[in-house]
Amino acid sequence: MSKALILGTGSCLPQKTLTNAELEQIVDTSDQWITSRTGIKTRRISGEGEENFRLATLAGQRALEMAGLSPLALDMIIVATLSPHKIMPSTACFVQAELGATNAFAYDINAACTGFTYGLDLASKYIQSQPEMKVLVIGSETLSTRVDWKDRNTCVLFGDGAGAAVLGGSEDGRGVLGSKLHSDGRLWNLLHMDGPESQNPELQGSDWEGALIRMNGSDIFKQAVRAMDDVVVELLEQQQLTIEDIDLVIPHQANIRILNKLQQRLNIPDDKLFINVDKYGNTSAASIPIALDEANKQGRVKENDLVLLCTFGAGLTWASLLMRW
Ligand SMILES: CC(C)(COP(=O)(O)OP(=O)(O)OC[C@H]1O[C@@H](n2cnc3c(N)ncnc32)[C@H](O)[C@@H]1OP(=O)(O)O)[C@@H](O)C(=O)NCCC(=O)NCCS
Repeated sequence: MSKALILGTGSCLPQKTLTNAELEQIVDTSDQWITSRTGIKTRRISGEGEENFRLATLAGQRALEMAGLSPLALDMIIVATLSPHKIMPSTACFVQAELGATNAFAYDINAACTGFTYGLDLASKYIQSQPEMKVLVIGSETLSTRVDWKDRNTCVLFGDGAGAAVLGGSEDGRGVLGSKLHSDGRLWNLLHMDGPESQNPELQGSDWEGALIRMNGSDIFKQAVRAMDDVVVELLEQQQLTIEDIDLVIPHQANIRILNKLQQRLNIPDDKLFINVDKYGNTSAASIPIALDEANKQGRVKENDLVLLCTFGAGLTWASLLMRW
């Protein structure tokens, strides 16, 4: 059976870097606290001309260039985001227009930090049944527009950026081998955005202002470690593999302490775990595709390598996906 193979990757980070020292001027925090609790040193913040869809488009363009494909070759564009350019139309439609990908249908998905991995899974299922399809999957966020810059519990954690992958059919055994996806909506309130809600009587006249990220940090921490550990074990068992068989693990870049705990629990050697959370913070749906693009460009993934993605986010949602590069 055909498999969905990544043909090219790309990413786009905003120009502006926000350091921990600069955050000290905004909220009551310190470089020492942020570094020791999260591992984050800098994050990127989008500015003028760096709307979500523009970052997404550039990441997509770069992925297409690497794949040697014209935008006209695309059949489908999926943008995973929790900070869309507008609620309607989808950010994916803006990207489709910017790219001139007039043969592609386009829509967004929102699975928070798990969105890109859900998107890859979706693309993979399309390509399995229609191997001639070319699909662009993008994770793109401008979380700086959704963060409460007065809340030191959250504003130090997040950053902006976009990453992308173009997929097409492969017959040589390479591509997506399997995935495990989960959600638990009962725990939505651990990590969410305040209104506006769908039946909020005060919605009239309100806008995005006030729709900001709220989080129960310690509960999210525990859930993230347990969920990512479980979902990796589940996928490895399904694939009859062990962690020693994996060449590179690319986890969601939320927090270095979550990654360290995951590494201990799964026994992942240092050189098989990709980490860039220090540079970009948590970019939600963009985190895995940015990391994937960096890993690719740094030569950390070679043809036929087994690459394992694992992620966790609001919803709650969590997932793992295995591919042969
Ligand atoms: C948020 C997080 C870093 C907090 O770390 P922690 O070890 O749980 O924090 P602690 O319980 O040790 O400390 C909390 C204290 O630090 C304070 N604090 C919170 N943010 C702070 C900051 N940026 N600077 C300084 N102090 C801060 C709190 O106000 C609290 O103070 P108090 O005890 O006086 O009330 C941690 O819970 C975490 O990483 N959670 C997961 C977050 C995440 O990854 N979310 C996205 C998942 S996709």
